[in-house]
Amino acid sequence: MEKTYLEKINETAEFIRAEVGEMPKIGVILGTGLGDLVNHIEVSKELDYHNIPNFPVSTVEGHSGKLIFGKLGGKYIMAMQGRFHYYEGYDMKEVTFPVRVMRAVGVETLFVSNASGGMNKEFKVGDVMIITDHINLFPENPLRGKNYEELGTRFPSMTEAYSHALIDMADAIAAEDNIRLMHGVYVGTPGPTFETPAEYEYFRVIGGDAVGMSTVPEVIVANHAGMKVFGVSVITDLGGKDILIPPSHEEVQKAAVKAQPVMTHIIKKMLERL
Ligand code: HPA
Repeated sequence: MEKTYLEKINETAEFIRAEVGEMPKIGVILGTGLGDLVNHIEVSKELDYHNIPNFPVSTVEGHSGKLIFGKLGGKYIMAMQGRFHYYEGYDMKEVTFPVRVMRAVGVETLFVSNASGGMNKEFKVGDVMIITDHINLFPENPLRGKNYEELGTRFPSMTEAYSHALIDMADAIAAEDNIRLMHGVYVGTPGPTFETPAEYEYFRVIGGDAVGMSTVPEVIVANHAGMKVFGVSVITDLGGKDILIPPSHEEVQKAAVKAQPVMTHIIKKMLERL
C-alpha cells in the first residue's frame, strides 16, 4: 500500500536521526542570497537529497541539493542547500516536505531567504527586506486536503506568520551595525514568469512590497507545525508600471550575491543571540 504523507515524513525523519545523531532546533532554508552562509557553517554532516528517502530532488541551475548539519553563530543548525519551487513542477506537498521533516526531527525555529522584485518605491536593487507578512497568491494552499492533527490544526492562524520577536532582534542588530534594512510584505506567486508592469503595480496596490516565487508555502507549513519563522528577501530588481527594464535570471543572481554579506551577518548574529 502507498505510504501516507505522515508515514513518509516519519520515515524520512527516522532516517535522518539515524544518519546524523544529534538533532538541531534551528533550520535554515538557504534561498537566493544566503548561499554564502554555507561557507560559514562548521559542517559536521551532509546528506545529499538523492540519498534521503522520500525527498524530492532539486533541479534549478545554481541550486545544489543537500541537507547540511553543523554549527553557525555557536548554534547547531540544519540547513537546506537548494529548495523546491512550485514552478519546477513540484506539488505543494513536495515543496513543503522538507519543512515537515525539519519539524519532525525537532526544529522549532525556521530561517528562510529568497530573492524578490521590489514594488515599494523606497527600495533599491540590493536592499535586504525583512519579511513582516505575506500574501499567498499561489493557486493552491499547501494545507489543502487531509489534515493530520499530529502535524497541526485544521484552520491555523497566520496572524504572526513571521515572528515579531525575531524581527525585533534583526532590527536591533541592524541598528547596532548601521545596516540599511527594509521591511515589507512579500507576495508569493507561482512564477516562472516575472511580472508584467501591470502585475507589479497590482501587487503594490494590494499591499505588497516585494514579489517572489517561493517561501510562502514553506512558511504556511512552518506556522501550521508551530514553528517560529524569520524571513528575509534580497531585492534583486524593481518592478512597476513605469519600470520597463526586464529583470533577468543573471541580474537577480548578481544582486543576490552582492547582498549576501549583509544577510549572512544578520543571520549569524541572530543565531548567536537565540
Ligand atoms: N518577480 C518574481 N520573482 C522574482 C523577482 C521578480 O521580479 N525577482 C526575483 N524573484
